Amino acid sequence: MRTQRTQVGIIGAGPAGLMLAHLLHLQGIESVVLEARTKEEVEGTIRAGVLEQGTVDVLRESGVGARMDREGQVHRGIEFRFNGQGHRINLHHLTGGKHVMVYAQHEVLIDLIEARLKSGGDLRFTVRDVQLHDIDTDSPKIRFRRHADGELEELVCDFVAGCDGFHGPSRLTIPASARREYQKSFPMGWLGVLVEAPPSSEELIYCRHERGFALVSTRSPEVQRLYLQVDATDDIREWSDDRIWSELHARLATHDGWTLKEGRIFQKNIVAMRSFVVEPMQYGRLFLAGDAAHIVPPTGAKGLNLAISDVCVLARGIAAFYRRNRSDLLQAYSNICLRRVWKAERFSNYMTSLLHRFPSHSPFEERVQLAELDYVTSSVVGAQTIAENYVGLPIEWEAPAPVTAAVAGH
Ligand code: APR
Ligand code: PHB
Repeated sequence: MRTQRTQVGIIGAGPAGLMLAHLLHLQGIESVVLEARTKEEVEGTIRAGVLEQGTVDVLRESGVGARMDREGQVHRGIEFRFNGQGHRINLHHLTGGKHVMVYAQHEVLIDLIEARLKSGGDLRFTVRDVQLHDIDTDSPKIRFRRHADGELEELVCDFVAGCDGFHGPSRLTIPASARREYQKSFPMGWLGVLVEAPPSSEELIYCRHERGFALVSTRSPEVQRLYLQVDATDDIREWSDDRIWSELHARLATHDGWTLKEGRIFQKNIVAMRSFVVEPMQYGRLFLAGDAAHIVPPTGAKGLNLAISDVCVLARGIAAFYRRNRSDLLQAYSNICLRRVWKAERFSNYMTSLLHRFPSHSPFEERVQLAELDYVTSSVVGAQTIAENYVGLPIEWEAPAPVTAAVAGH
């Protein structure tokens, strides 16, 4: 069997895997990234698009934020809409000057892939049959094929990073007796559409309505991203464009005649709503990061941001191991990440409960939900807890200094 060596073997080229490879490269640590899909598939997958302040800082300070700064949109507030009226949460004022950036996840991936390829880093697409071996030893191994009919190859590593998303093989390599899984599924899904139309609103609108939740987001000056709460079991074929528009209009209507801009729908899909966490996020020399370790419902826009904060902690721990011969930060990896992960789970769960219609809700619970919305939009303290979590809790990371000119110029 052909054998190769690297310091860190990374499974998955999503935000977690690519960002980890990038941060390690800046510290002079070599890695190989193995991805099952093609480059075009990775770069073309439509996902969420809200970057927390901390994620923006990490992208910028690590030298991959130039296009984000040119093309992304800074948002200093969000709107909560209910009972036909909008209420602004001023993120900027309530957090001492922080904001979020609306820049689609696939654009972040395009930038990270470009940086990786420019730096000559090893990134392999369309690999097959990835298996992990000896993860509880000092030299864990990844076996894989370069393509469907390739021979089995072996990558011998010091560490393996399982960045292969919720359905990847890494998490399942940890013996069932050594991991505990926590999960919750919600009785609804989100139908998302991309629309050829300028933004209907300068800021995101999170709307609670008796007919269900709706969200107005944006992608660019020409493209809107809109979402509707649907039943978890709904099939996208049941949702004609006309039905989508009439539902969006009904839910988003205001008393002051706000209008939703329509245009051609050129992409639509339904995503499930689920929460999941595995503990611990590490076993032997295998470290899980991003969706491989945890999932959040999309209401708080935390998925991508958690993937980035995990790998910041991991890159710092791996760098301390090689540069300072310290393994304490790696040993603390799971605990450090889980503290932040659970707070993002809490916030995503809270935002979902605050804004959706639940089939199980009694009239009493609906009134309490409306009172909660009234509270967080009329009390500074109430609004501040939303704002602080929405712009993101602090990320533990160390800016690799100095960023090389080649990377910074990207
Ligand atoms: N072998 C190689 N690669 C794999 C395998 C496998 N067996 N299984 C999965 N992968 C790849 C997937 O094709 C995907 O590109 O791992 C990558 C995982 O990426 P993501 O699912 O994007 O997960 P992550 O990097 O943790 O980022 C989390 O992305 O999925 C969104 O909503 C999610 O915003 C969140 C963020
Ligand atoms: C998006 O633009 O896709 C988006 C925005 C906010 C969310 C989720 C998704 O909470």
